[in-house]
Amino acid sequence: MLQICRQNPDVTATVLDLPLVCDVGQEHIRPEPEADRIKFLKGDALTDALPEDFDLVTFKSMLHDWPEREAIRFIKNASRSLVPGGTLLIFERGPIEMAQTEIYYSMIPFLLFVHSFRAPALYVKQLQDLDFQEISVKNVCLDTPFFIVTAKKKNRNSP
Ligand SMILES: C[S@@+](CC[C@H](N)C(=O)[O-])C[C@H]1O[C@@H](n2cnc3c(N)ncnc32)[C@H](O)[C@@H]1O
Repeated sequence: MLQICRQNPDVTATVLDLPLVCDVGQEHIRPEPEADRIKFLKGDALTDALPEDFDLVTFKSMLHDWPEREAIRFIKNASRSLVPGGTLLIFERGPIEMAQTEIYYSMIPFLLFVHSFRAPALYVKQLQDLDFQEISVKNVCLDTPFFIVTAKKKNRNSP
């Protein structure tokens, strides 16, 4: 969020995470000029009623940690936070083909999660079921394959 706010002076953001993570994040950004544009909200995105009226809600490297049923609940819950026409953005590591991938020592920490990196299809299906529009998937190759799914919440007056 700090990087995004640095590059986009008009952006204000709310980070929702578990209490300890918010404390660490708040401490980290305290000296930065962007600190007053980034609010931290301690909560549970699975079960709490989330604040509303956001133009964009993003999950970055979070949904893969959860079984499909919960991943879907996160998306459903977050979709209520968006204004009509607002964007949901999911940025996740995709599956890694172990047999065809050169494995580096630096990859060890996240190889723990290699079985939970799923393809974007589950998220696309969920967004279709929720009547999101303009659903797109973009593949991004960083240290391993990532993807970005974006979709727009239906406008009240669109067909
Ligand atoms: C793998 S970390 C990713 C952190 C960061 N977005 C990144 O890409 O480096 C997953 C984050 O999701 C948060 N998280 C997990 N379950 C959550 C929940 N139920 N409600 C809110 N945040 C949650 C964790 O505390 C953690 O900060």
